[in-house]
Amino acid sequence: MTQDELKALVGHAALAHVVRGAVIGVGTGSTVNHFIDALGTIKAQLAGAVSSSDKSTERLRAHGIRVLDAAEVERIPVYVDGADEIDPRGHMIKGGGAALTREKIVADLAERFVCIADASKRVDVLGRFALPVEVIPMAVAQLTRRFARQYGGDARVRAGVRTDNGLPILDVHGLRITDPVAMEAEVNQWPGVVTVGIFARHKAALCLLGTAQGVQTLTFPAQPAAAR
Ligand code: 5RP
Repeated sequence: MTQDELKALVGHAALAHVVRGAVIGVGTGSTVNHFIDALGTIKAQLAGAVSSSDKSTERLRAHGIRVLDAAEVERIPVYVDGADEIDPRGHMIKGGGAALTREKIVADLAERFVCIADASKRVDVLGRFALPVEVIPMAVAQLTRRFARQYGGDARVRAGVRTDNGLPILDVHGLRITDPVAMEAEVNQWPGVVTVGIFARHKAALCLLGTAQGVQTLTFPAQPAAAR
């Protein structure tokens, strides 16, 4: 199977985790696009969707699915999104599609994060994929130096990209993230960082992994309440 076929497989499998009659949280990316297409087939059973990007909003609306503002909902049962990497505990790197800030906001509304990914995303230690960080422009040089000094990371501005919030992304290469919870907490409080693409506090509850043998379901213990 091609990578896109594996993405389609898990995108459709995620329908089983959608709570009928409720609002669904929807991520961003090529895997999620397959999920949105699958959602179109059950749109009458949805109370609507909260979306994590302009691109996903457009696709949801094209299927006739009502998109609600995040401010209109207090809690949603499930958020479905892809990942750039996922480790054995369900911690993820996200933001390859530059939607990380809104993704984290919608994930924070949800009871459960259902990750959908092809098998290439499964890693033992996060960091081979350059870590995306959404930043305030005036802090770019300062943050670049700080990543080098503190983590030995090589931060580079993603050329020609602005997020839906109009901000640049730094991609940090050369990391080995052995303690994602600690690193997320640390980097998040550096002045100039809007969102770091480590999803450890908002990690996956389960992952539907697309493999040559079919969909594998990985489940992860919840993050302790104190860490959220
Ligand atoms: C977007 C993301 C995506 O979920 C991640 O990049 C995976 O994308 P794809 O499904 O296209 O492989 O975090 O910001």
